[in-house]
Amino acid sequence: MSFRTLKIRFILILIFMTLVMTFIKYEKSYNVNNFVTNEEKYLTYLPHDGFNNQRISLENAIFLAWFLKRTLIIPPLLLFEGIAPAMGRPYNKTYNFLTQFLRPDKNQFKYCSKSRSGCDIAFCFREGKKTCLMVNYTMYNWEELIDFTFLKNHIKYIHRQDFEFNHLLKSLSIYDSSEVYNVTNDNVRYQQRYYDDPTSTIELDNFKERVNLIDLSKRTEKLIHFASVFSETRIVRELSESIEFWNKLIREMLPNNPLLIYTVDKIFNKIGGINSYIGVHARLKDGFFIKNRKNTIKGLIERIQEGFEDDVCLTKKIYLAIDVKRNHPSLKPFFQTFSCIYVLDDFNDFLEPLKFLRNPRDGMILYKFLIPLVDLLVASKGSRFYGSINSTFSDYAQRLNEAWIR
Ligand SMILES: *[C@@H]1O[C@H](CO)[C@@H](O)[C@H](O)[C@H]1NC(C)=O
Ligand SMILES: *[C@@H]1O[C@H](CO)[C@@H](O)[C@H](O)[C@H]1NC(C)=O
Ligand SMILES: *[C@@H]1O[C@H](CO)[C@@H](O)[C@H](O)[C@H]1NC(C)=O
Ligand SMILES: *[C@@H]1O[C@H](CO)[C@@H](O)[C@H](O)[C@H]1NC(C)=O
Repeated sequence: MSFRTLKIRFILILIFMTLVMTFIKYEKSYNVNNFVTNEEKYLTYLPHDGFNNQRISLENAIFLAWFLKRTLIIPPLLLFEGIAPAMGRPYNKTYNFLTQFLRPDKNQFKYCSKSRSGCDIAFCFREGKKTCLMVNYTMYNWEELIDFTFLKNHIKYIHRQDFEFNHLLKSLSIYDSSEVYNVTNDNVRYQQRYYDDPTSTIELDNFKERVNLIDLSKRTEKLIHFASVFSETRIVRELSESIEFWNKLIREMLPNNPLLIYTVDKIFNKIGGINSYIGVHARLKDGFFIKNRKNTIKGLIERIQEGFEDDVCLTKKIYLAIDVKRNHPSLKPFFQTFSCIYVLDDFNDFLEPLKFLRNPRDGMILYKFLIPLVDLLVASKGSRFYGSINSTFSDYAQRLNEAWIR
C-alpha cells in the first residue's frame, strides 16, 4: 500500500467517524427537544426595604422555587447606608424605582419624599416641599454573605445582575411576553397569601387573596414573576415536606462571610465567649419604632429582669445592639437598671478588618453597610437573646441565637 492510499483511507475513516458523531449528536438534540418535556422554568421576585425584609423575601422565594420546581433568579442584596428608602407600590412602580435608581454602575441616588422619616439632619436637604437625601447603596451578592450549601442541594439558582426587565428576558431567551406571568400588580402591601395545602382552613389574616401553590405549579409560562414575596406570614406551610424543608433552611442558611464571622467572633471572645453575656436588640430608630420607644425599652427591662430571677446562674453582662448612640435619651432607663452593658462602639478597634471587605461587583467598601449586621450577630451569640417586640430584625437574631447554640 502506498502512502497515498493510506492517506485516503485515513481521510475516509475520519469522514465516517464525523458522520457517526454528528448522527449521535443529532439523536441527542432530537431527544431533548421532542421527548423530554422538563424544559427549565424560572421564578423571580422584587426585593424591597432593608436587609432583613429582603432576607425574608429571599427565603420565601427559595421555598416557592423548591415547591414549584423552578430555577430561582435571585436579585442582588440591596445594601443602603442608613435607612432603606421606601420603594412604594404597585409592582410597576417598584420596578421603575429599582430600574431607575439601583444601577450596577452607580452607588448613589437622590431620594426625595414628603415625609421626613429616615432623615438624619446631617444629610437631609429641602427641595420645595420635599425632603431629599443622597442615598448611598451597593448591590451585593447574597452568596457572599450567607451559606448557600442548603440551596445548592435543593434548587437551581442564578444571580440577577440588574433590574432591567429586558435584560432578564434576554438572559432567559424569552422573546415573547406570553412566556412571562406577572403574578400580581401588588396594589396593596399584602396582596396574595400562598398555601401549600389546598385543603387548608387557615384564614387570610391581613392578606387579600388566597392562592394555592398547586395551581401556580400548573402555570406553563417560562418565567413566573412575583412582585413582593415579603412577610413572615406570606406562605402557609402545612404539608410535612414543606415544614421539614423550611426548618432545615432556617437552620442551615446562616451568615458565613469569613471576615464578618471573624469580626463577630473577636468581639464575642473579648466579652468572654460562650455563656458570658446575654444579647439584647433594641430597635428604636424608624417608623413604628420611634413612637414605641418607651414600650420597647420597658418591655426589654422587664423580660431581662424576669430572666435573671428565673436563672441565678445567668451572667449579668449584657451586649446591647442598637440603631442609635448609647447616650440616646430613650436608653437611659436601660443604663440605669443594668450595669456591665457593652455596645458595638466599645469594640471599634475590632472592626478594622471589615474596612478591607469589598463588594466584588463594584469595589465598594462594605464596612458601613454591614455594621448593623455585625451588631445584631454579636447580640445573637449571647447565651440568651432578648429582642424588640414587632421587630423582624430581632426575630432574626432570635432564630440565629437558637441556631448558634444548637
Ligand atoms: C410584566 O411586568 C413587566 C415589568 O413591569 C412589564 O414590562 C411587562 O409588560 C409585564 N408583562 C405582562 C404580560 O403584563
Ligand atoms: C402601573 O400599572 C397601573 C395599572 O395596573 C397603571 O394604572 C399605572 O399607570 C402604572 N404605573 C406606572 C408608574 O407605570
Ligand atoms: C454617602 O457617601 C459619601 C461619600 O461618597 C459621604 O460623604 C456621605 O456622607 C454618604 N451619605 C450618607 C447618607 O451616609
Ligand atoms: C406588635 O406586636 C403585638 C403583639 O405581638 C401585636 O398585637 C401587634 O399587632 C403588633 N403591631 C404591629 C404594628 O405589628
